[in-house]
Amino acid sequence: VVVETVERVEVGFVRDVDAKSVLRVALSDDRVIAVVQLDDGTYTAFEGRCPHKSGPISDGRICEDVVVCPWHGFRFDLRSGEPAGMQSIMKLPVFPVTVESGRIFVTVNK
Ligand code: FES
Repeated sequence: VVVETVERVEVGFVRDVDAKSVLRVALSDDRVIAVVQLDDGTYTAFEGRCPHKSGPISDGRICEDVVVCPWHGFRFDLRSGEPAGMQSIMKLPVFPVTVESGRIFVTVNK
């Protein structure tokens, strides 16, 4: 049995994240996550290190809810974390985001 512990972290305000900006958040365990706004106006968060070779994927170009890693160009769907447009078993960890009273919360595994 695998028991996963999750934590809900307040990361900022909706005014900090718009269609053209990425909010990077350092967690207490040294992980960095990136919070972005999707094309439909909702938010998502993803691991800041690429699952391929740990490239800085939070610096990647984002277009149509897909992020492109700046190191080798792997693409990931920001809703599911699934690779986009390629055969790959790698998946980008994505995290649920909720908004309450203009504040953004991300649920991360510990
Ligand atoms: S490290 Fe991201 S594609 Fe290689």
